Amino acid sequence: MKGVILAGGLGTRLHPLTRATNKHLLPVGREPMVYHPIRQLVSAGIQDVLVITSTDHMGDVVRCLGPGTEFGCSITYRVQESAGGIAQALALAEGFAGGERICVLLGDNVFEYSIRPYVDAFRAQAKGARVLLKEVGDPTRYGVAALDERQVLSIEEKPSEPKSNYAVVGFYCYGSDVFDVIRQTRPSARGELEITGVNNVYIERGDLEYDVCRGRWTDAGTFDSLAEANAILGPLENVIRE
Ligand code: DAU
Repeated sequence: MKGVILAGGLGTRLHPLTRATNKHLLPVGREPMVYHPIRQLVSAGIQDVLVITSTDHMGDVVRCLGPGTEFGCSITYRVQESAGGIAQALALAEGFAGGERICVLLGDNVFEYSIRPYVDAFRAQAKGARVLLKEVGDPTRYGVAALDERQVLSIEEKPSEPKSNYAVVGFYCYGSDVFDVIRQTRPSARGELEITGVNNVYIERGDLEYDVCRGRWTDAGTFDSLAEANAILGPLENVIRE
C-alpha cells in the first residue's frame, strides 16, 4: 500500500499565521505539522509516500521533509496549482499510485495513537474504501456520518443539522478505482471537488467500511483546533504511540 498526504489548500482560517507560510509547516508539538502524517504512515508500515502541496510553498515543504530518509520512507512530491478541493488534490496521485491501494491523510490531522489498526483492517478488506469516524462536540464543521449498527448510511459535508456526532476524520483508504470515482464527481456549491462526494459513491455501492478512532484526534485548521493539536502532540517527543 502507498501513502498520500494532502497538504495544499489556503489555510485562510489561520490568517495571519498562514500569510507567509503553509499551514502544514506551522509548529505542532516539537515539529512542523506535516511531520506527523509522515510518521503516522510509516508507523502503519507504509514507506512510499506522496506529498501534495501548493505551488507557493512546495520549496519550503521539500526543504523541510527532503527525500524522507530521516523518517524511514521515500517521499515523492506533486503540486496542486489551485485549491480546488480535497478530491481534486487526490486526483493528482493517480500516476504515483500506479494501480496500488492507497491510504490518504489530510496533512492537518493529528492522532494520539497510530493509525496502524485501521490500515491493517483495510489490508484485510477485499475491496471498496474505508473511513475513520470520531465522536465530536461540534459536528457542523466536518463531514458527518449517518450510521446504523453495521454501516455508514450517508455522509453530509458541514451539515447545519447533523444526523450524528460522528465526524469523518481525514483518513481514507481506497482501491485504485478511486480515480474513476473522482472523475465522476462534480464540484459542490462552494466550488470544490469534495472527498465526501467520493465517499458517498462508495456508500451507494455498499462498499464503504469504517472504524471508530481511538484516543484523541483533531484537525489543526482553526486556532482552537491548532491549540488542541499542540495539546495532543506536545509532550510526545516525536513518537507515534502504538
Ligand atoms: O479534518 C477532517 C475534515 O476535513 C473532514 O471531516 C471533512 O469532511 C473534509 O472536507 C475536511 O474538511 P475541512 O474543511 O477541514 O477541509 P480543509 O479545506 O481545511 O482541508 C483539509 C486539508 O486538505 C488541508 O489541511 C489540506 C488539504 N487540501 C484541502 C484543499 C481544499 C488540499 O490539499 N487541497 C485543497 O484544495
